[in-house]
Amino acid sequence: MELHEIDLGNPDNFVQGVPHEWFAHLRREAPVFWHPDPDGHADGYWCVTRYDDCVTVNRDYEHFSSHLKATLYEDWDEDLLAQQRLMMLNMDPPMHTRYRRLVNKGFTPRMIRDLEASVVTYTDRILDGVCEAGTADFVEQISAELPLQVIAELMGVPQEDRHLVFDWSNRMVGSKDPEYQVAAESGIEASMELYAYADELCEKKRLDPHQDLLSVLTQAEIDGDRLSQLELDLFFMLLAVAGNETTRNLISGAMVAFFENPDQWERLRGDRSLLPSAIEEMLRFVSPVMHFRRQATADVELGGQQIREGDKVIFWHISANRDETVFPDPHRFDVARPANNHMAFGGGGPHFCLGANLARMEIKVMFDRLLDRMGDIELDGEVQRLRSNFINGVKHLPVRFTPSAPVGA
Ligand code: HEM
Repeated sequence: MELHEIDLGNPDNFVQGVPHEWFAHLRREAPVFWHPDPDGHADGYWCVTRYDDCVTVNRDYEHFSSHLKATLYEDWDEDLLAQQRLMMLNMDPPMHTRYRRLVNKGFTPRMIRDLEASVVTYTDRILDGVCEAGTADFVEQISAELPLQVIAELMGVPQEDRHLVFDWSNRMVGSKDPEYQVAAESGIEASMELYAYADELCEKKRLDPHQDLLSVLTQAEIDGDRLSQLELDLFFMLLAVAGNETTRNLISGAMVAFFENPDQWERLRGDRSLLPSAIEEMLRFVSPVMHFRRQATADVELGGQQIREGDKVIFWHISANRDETVFPDPHRFDVARPANNHMAFGGGGPHFCLGANLARMEIKVMFDRLLDRMGDIELDGEVQRLRSNFINGVKHLPVRFTPSAPVGA
């Protein structure tokens, strides 16, 4: 393989599967690689593929900024960039620290614990909806529904509105997959509708606060500092995006991994004490978020390469999580893998996933109930993957299982 054959910018190259052989080649031959970018503003960007270097980029916010050009692969024009920068994901300390301290108030371990009973009920209801049929599209009917319902409950969105919020956030983010593509105007329209909805909901929470996140955040105050309405709107959108697609594709991708490794399914089915290590292995193996972007703030050396101030840097979680120097036999899916310090939620930097423990709890409940209720689940057709180099996604996953009676959750 020649380095010039590698093209990680074209989402078509992820449709048949993640190009792991390319990443392995880069980790070995060119771990910090100048990747051509014919569509970008500059002639290329740095591709960082080894675990240790990815962790460095993730933690060293002083050299690798989330704010300058935001954190997505795309080079935005100034107007869109200005909007993106108002989201915490695209802030650097100290601005990010202030924001994170405020939103942490609404994301306590206790709040996550209190949600667990509802997550069990939602999961059983979702499985009740398909169990008698004996077949389902696992993505549309099972894995997409749980995070939607959980985020709605977490934020205090009435359940009947959850698809509205999801549809707005999807249209705003846009997609490179033809099945989900929308016109740019539709994205702008969606953002107006979502902000108007969030404004109204926040007003209701101010007048009649409950235990949900939006109620907490509308009241949250540190040293006289509060979130503005625009900040609340953007946080609302960030959660709708960050909490849904990631968790959905983790559950779907892990199901595919089990179909490809049925011995691991049987192992977990026979020994449920393996669930905690199995969850970490699902996260490592699937890595639903495949990369994030940073922008160099100064000249800096990384992995033997000289990065220049203003260079674009893409670091690949999906590659770090298969680094053979950190994870022995990295392409093996092993539900009992020890010492699994993966970076699916980030590499320990200031933006470490705010929803990590919520996502872990959703994954645990979903697989626990699937193992109990649909233990003989198998693939029943073709796995259709998302056209994206950002989200490791599955669009459709036909499955079959022995029909059973609903549990009446
Ligand atoms: C399997 C599921 C999930 C995965 C793989 C995932 C992955 C990530 C990653 C890689 C980051 C960036 C970390 C960094 O740059 O250091 C992140 C940030 C974030 N995630 Fe998650 N996430 C998941 C679920 C969730 C859920 C359920 C929520 C919310 C309910 C959530 C909310 C967020 C937020 C708000 C941020 C930004 C934090 C900040 O900027 O400080 N995520 N996530």
